[in-house]
Amino acid sequence: MSESPLVLMKDIVKRFPGVLANDHVTFELRRGEVHALLGENGAGKTTLMNILYGLYKPDSGEIYVKGRKANIRSPRDAIRLGIGMVHQHFRLIPTHTVTENIILGLKEAGFVINYKKMNEEIKRLAESYGWKINPDARMWQLSAGEKQQVEILKALYRKAEILILDEPTSVLTPQETRALFRAVRRMAEEGKGVIFITHKLEEVMEVSDRVTVMRKGRVVVTKNTRDTNPQELANYMVGRPVIFEIEKKELQPGDPVAVIKDLYAMSDKGVLALKGVNLEVRRNEILGLAGVTGNGQVELVEVITGLRKAVKGRVIIDGKDVTNRSPREIMELGVAYIPPETLRWGVVPSLRVVDNLFLKAYRYPPFSKSAVIDWKKVYEKAEELIREFEIITPSPFVKTRTLSGGNIQRLILARELSGIIGGGVPKLIVAAYPTKGLDVGATEFVLKTLVKYRDMGSGVLLVSEDLEEILRVSDRVAVIFDGKIMGVFKSSEADIEEIGLLMAGVKEKAKAG
Ligand SMILES: Nc1ncnc2c1ncn2[C@@H]1O[C@H](COP(=O)(O)OP(=O)(O)O)[C@@H](O)[C@H]1O
Ligand SMILES: [Mg+2]
Repeated sequence: MSESPLVLMKDIVKRFPGVLANDHVTFELRRGEVHALLGENGAGKTTLMNILYGLYKPDSGEIYVKGRKANIRSPRDAIRLGIGMVHQHFRLIPTHTVTENIILGLKEAGFVINYKKMNEEIKRLAESYGWKINPDARMWQLSAGEKQQVEILKALYRKAEILILDEPTSVLTPQETRALFRAVRRMAEEGKGVIFITHKLEEVMEVSDRVTVMRKGRVVVTKNTRDTNPQELANYMVGRPVIFEIEKKELQPGDPVAVIKDLYAMSDKGVLALKGVNLEVRRNEILGLAGVTGNGQVELVEVITGLRKAVKGRVIIDGKDVTNRSPREIMELGVAYIPPETLRWGVVPSLRVVDNLFLKAYRYPPFSKSAVIDWKKVYEKAEELIREFEIITPSPFVKTRTLSGGNIQRLILARELSGIIGGGVPKLIVAAYPTKGLDVGATEFVLKTLVKYRDMGSGVLLVSEDLEEILRVSDRVAVIFDGKIMGVFKSSEADIEEIGLLMAGVKEKAKAG
């Protein structure tokens, strides 16, 4: 007698204009398992789970919950069937308390709500998963990790037995990630089923019992986690063998190319985002800036590149004080900038590949003389860059929007790093989240390229939310929290535990405790 699975999704098809997001997908979740759903960006993971949660209607296919055919037309239906989903972007009300958010929309709460009793219940529920939550705290007071706990508790409070977590670790510190993994394991022990969406291989290996890999809308394979390994999973995910190692030779770092002194700056919201940052990036080194997103990283790179004003402090590049100079002046000094969200801000999608490559270089020799563009030189150079940076495009003349994300990022690297502006190797490369949203292959290319320029003499400031990535390629790692640098370490001697605590703003040394 075999028990029915908690969920069986059969032959699900979902088409969006121009994309087949789910192409005859079959997926099963058993009682008591953590099932990782692994795939690159755009593989169709979120779509599949939005269908299970009643947010999208499949074009065809069937869903069975605990052996019974289910017709899930809305999240309400899903919740009634014991399905809970925590999205990548939280949906809590900032001015409400934890308890208010959790009971929001609960019929059973009735008209008279006994907050004292509810607070108690919620506290106990949280504790049973190893979390400490103050039920009276308002959402805006909580860290990203705590908000996520509230989202999960909200589902559990509704007696969810099927829990969908969509890329839950992307907003967490290493410690918070571990606490989440423990809670997730606990849920599985209780007989619940957890679907854990991720594109990170280590997480699959650490937390899951089984793993289903998706690529381009299809399921490639489902395996027991213990019968596979990261290398094999990466190959399934990308569809070809992937090289993990990034070769990096030992180099003696040179003189500082960028010195940041006691820097203060405001965020867009008009509050202080940088509160006295001190940093140095030297020639021939990659300095990784680790931290949870939103702790001043973007403001820092914008001040360095001239896009945001400093209210106090100095930015010195190659010995020159460039504080509050224009982006153009700073660029002409040999500063290359890979902005965050390049796919949105780094290119003009409606322009041709060649135009985006030369967006900045058009006005400089040898491509332009007395304001006349030398098109022959431009086209020749474009062809060369496309080869050198391995940009896959039918020609330099197609619209940039037709390229994949990875190829658009290569285009930006080519434009910013190749020296078509000013010539030569950039003195300083400021790379803000350069691999975010990229697939494994494109990520490798970006990281290798940064190492290559570091070898050629550039100083690189690499901002990333992926600590493992930082430790893989950086020579030193600085940790930023709440607009301040909490510590700087040699990557070879870095202690992940300590860095994690610093990322969460905990100053005492982990080792001391
Ligand atoms: N609401 C939508 N409208 C149009 N296209 C969508 C929508 N949601 C997802 N897609 C497309 O479907 C594909 C799969 O996306 P998604 O399920 O979000 O992938 P994943 O979660 O694996 O990154 C992508 O090509 C994406 O652009
Ligand atoms: Mg997704």
